[in-house]
Amino acid sequence: MPTNDTILVTGGAGFIGSNFVLTWLRAIGSPVINLDALSYAGNPANLSSLDNDARYLFVRGDICDAELVGSLLREHKPRAIVHFAAESHVDRSISSPEAFIRTNVQGTFVLLEQAKMYWSKLDEAGRSAFRFLHVSTDEVYGSLGPDDPAFSETTAYAPNSPYAASKAASDHLARAYHHTFGLPVLTTNCSNNYGPFQFPEKLIPLMILNALEGKPLPVYGDGKNVRDWLFVEDHCSAIRTVLGNGRVGHTYNIGGNSERANLDVVTTICDLVDEMRPAAPGAPPRRKLITFVEDRPGHDRRYAIDASKLSRELGWRPAEVFESGLQKTVRWYLENPAWIESVRTGAYREWIRQNYSERVEL
Ligand code: NAD
Ligand code: DAU
Repeated sequence: MPTNDTILVTGGAGFIGSNFVLTWLRAIGSPVINLDALSYAGNPANLSSLDNDARYLFVRGDICDAELVGSLLREHKPRAIVHFAAESHVDRSISSPEAFIRTNVQGTFVLLEQAKMYWSKLDEAGRSAFRFLHVSTDEVYGSLGPDDPAFSETTAYAPNSPYAASKAASDHLARAYHHTFGLPVLTTNCSNNYGPFQFPEKLIPLMILNALEGKPLPVYGDGKNVRDWLFVEDHCSAIRTVLGNGRVGHTYNIGGNSERANLDVVTTICDLVDEMRPAAPGAPPRRKLITFVEDRPGHDRRYAIDASKLSRELGWRPAEVFESGLQKTVRWYLENPAWIESVRTGAYREWIRQNYSERVEL
């Protein structure tokens, strides 16, 4: 049974997935099937520019639905699965962990099992060409002290939040399906992404919108937690690179070489918003809106990524530096008020109330 050039993407209506589908069609151009359940984080409007594009097919469905996944594989015979679908917000995993176990662990298991059944029936050429790329996170490695070396592919797993634990479990399943069954799995572990289409529950879009609207900017704890930031299109180019040339069964760390303390990220956003959308006359600069609030329980102090394996073996490097990427991102949110209104539903407002209204100010 020959495979074709089609790829199956899961979670392609979310933040990274939709950027991946758009950039894939620009850079590679082969057909994409997007399987997405449209949870609160999924937004088909992210891909409305593809409405008349014959290379793109959207299927609304759940990755936990084995029958649906199996029938999509048999019908479309993709040459790869790129698996983004997940529950992705750490704060939600603290207040409601169950959905994380279902989608991230059970859903990944269903995909791997269906992929194994499909792959094992391909002819030899199809089997050797097929890839299952599992998209994961640096959070599986836990938290670093200020002078610790960055996470490498051999760093021991030590996930701290229910989200990170569920992603770690899915990474282990992906690894096991390669080791035991020979399924051609690739895993990527990436640092914090930012850019267009990110749901405004995450730090950067939340701060841009609150700054724009003159609302408090809730920084958890002392604001000195450090994250490594990568522009989303650079993550997408890294995934294309690993999918094209990564060694089967290997893990690749992806990062932006841009460690920043949260407080520095937020003050930079304030200054960019002041510059691009000056506050009303007499109104204070946006930095004055910064409010320190009760910390996230179990808050990881620092993440840093050593992406030297990916650059050494496959020649990948990010195109964007943090300052230019952040400027593009702030501009995108300023220029897309209709998108912002479309995602700020009642359920979104309820989440904001739940996560912030009872957090004491420090
Ligand atoms: P997101 O929350 O924006 O999008 C997740 C998508 O998955 C949504 O479209 C949602 O509808 C879909 N989905 C959820 N449950 C589903 C289910 N049961 N079946 C089918 N679809 C379902 O997430 P994101 O930020 O785009 O992250 C994508 C992936 O990248 C995740 O696996 C995440 O762990 C990983 N990752 C994210 C970051 C980051 O900074 N955002 C960094 C590294 C890795
Ligand atoms: O490292 C990769 C991970 O990055 C991904 O796997 C996750 O899917 C993604 O959500 C992200 O996790 P973080 O928890 O690092 O991202 P978040 O945007 O939620 O928070 C970034 C930092 O900002 C973190 O230290 C918590 C802090 N923060 C966050 C919010 C929402 C605040 O100080 N205030 C806030 O209101």
